[in-house]
Amino acid sequence: MNSPSEVRALIASYWEDPAAASLAGYLARGGYEAARKALTEMKPEDVIEEVKRANLRGRGGAGFPAGLKWSFVPRTSPKPKYLVVNADESEPGTFKDKYVMLRSPHLLIEGSIITAYAIDAHVAYIYIRGEYDVCRVRLEEALREAYEAGFLGKGILGTGYDLDIYVHKGAGAYIAGEETGLLESLEGKRAYPRIKPPFPATVGLFRCPTVINNVETIAYVPFIIRHGGAWFASLGTERNGGFKLYCVSGHVQRPGVYELPMGTPLRTIIETYAGGVWRGRRLKAVIPGGSSAPVLRADEVDVPADFDALAKAGSMLGSAGIIVMDEMTCMVRALEVIADFYADESCGQCTPCREGAPWLLEMVQDILHGRADPSYPDLMLQIAQNILGRTICALGDAAALPVLSFVRKFRPEFDYHIEHKRCDVEERYGEVSNPD
Ligand SMILES: Cc1cc2nc3c(=O)[nH]c(=O)nc-3n(C[C@H](O)[C@H](O)[C@H](O)COP(=O)(O)O)c2cc1C
Repeated sequence: MNSPSEVRALIASYWEDPAAASLAGYLARGGYEAARKALTEMKPEDVIEEVKRANLRGRGGAGFPAGLKWSFVPRTSPKPKYLVVNADESEPGTFKDKYVMLRSPHLLIEGSIITAYAIDAHVAYIYIRGEYDVCRVRLEEALREAYEAGFLGKGILGTGYDLDIYVHKGAGAYIAGEETGLLESLEGKRAYPRIKPPFPATVGLFRCPTVINNVETIAYVPFIIRHGGAWFASLGTERNGGFKLYCVSGHVQRPGVYELPMGTPLRTIIETYAGGVWRGRRLKAVIPGGSSAPVLRADEVDVPADFDALAKAGSMLGSAGIIVMDEMTCMVRALEVIADFYADESCGQCTPCREGAPWLLEMVQDILHGRADPSYPDLMLQIAQNILGRTICALGDAAALPVLSFVRKFRPEFDYHIEHKRCDVEERYGEVSNPD
């Protein structure tokens, strides 16, 4: 076991070796030893306690403590329990789960075995977005290898524990990434999110207790069992254990996925790891957690990239999709790209989101094309404020938060567009760059 200061990468350490994607390569790196340890030396409650100790927060967006979520599953319920792995990865700017599935599929399978064991599930589903067909093929190949080696199926590793894992392909809708929309879709229905409570841990798939976790969350579980929860916790910040896969895109020299300790400063991720803003330009803005997260100005990026610090800074870590914008970005056009996505992906179930998201898009487009009057920015803030917190799922918030933050933080650009029917950035630079 390495001391925390010696650890350079966890999940990504598998990505350096292409052979690690195969069962033989995975076993050569100690693969499935954590599952063996959990199933033969630990009781399910011990596994949950270890994960609680690790301060493992869900990596799908909300950052809910994983061990705590697992402890909500009623163990005495006579109903079957299910594990569902969320591999929908639909938030723009997020592209980490696909690497986990492509380059370290057995890590996800091993994490699923340990998690399913901890919650007394004997069936697990990996719900994968339709566009990730290459990942699906790789996962199914890895599952076949795991079945053949006795890591899945009946009497896993010679114990009395049985588990089957199925890969379920979605059709590619953002709303199907929301956990209850996902469950509806998995049940063969349209992915309309459910009203919570009840939460899936008690009433989930087929109305049975269900744990839903993101791919990355599950992929960290084998490390926790192998090295201990306290060790994992010590890698990160106070309530944010371990490492994190940060996705950096937009106007940087080296876009990519960087696995770093939780709480690495946002500026360090951008400047040191992603090589800084491209073409020698200055930083203008950063969206730290996927396109639904409130935007930060360049002077706001000296913040640890963890769930609590970014929330305190008025944004969120979300899915850690860090989108970097340089000084030549038109913020009105950038907001149009984002608003277009949420208007298109609103499932239509809740009126504020169904009507409000396209309305906001239309207003940004009016500003962009010189059709707006000076009342628009305030009206947009009012509309966004009326969507916020008033929908069944957080897609409404995802449509509202970018508008609130872009308009409030870059108001002069919106006003300039309205008054002059031209882009201020284009006036100054001649050309605008946008991270779309
Ligand atoms: C509109 C919407 C889309 C979402 N899309 C995803 C997604 O693609 N992948 C994901 O893991 N979580 C997504 N989530 C979060 C899930 O609802 C849920 O919180 C997560 O899967 C729980 O896993 P975790 O605790 O490991 O993060 C989305 C949430 C919302 C509101």
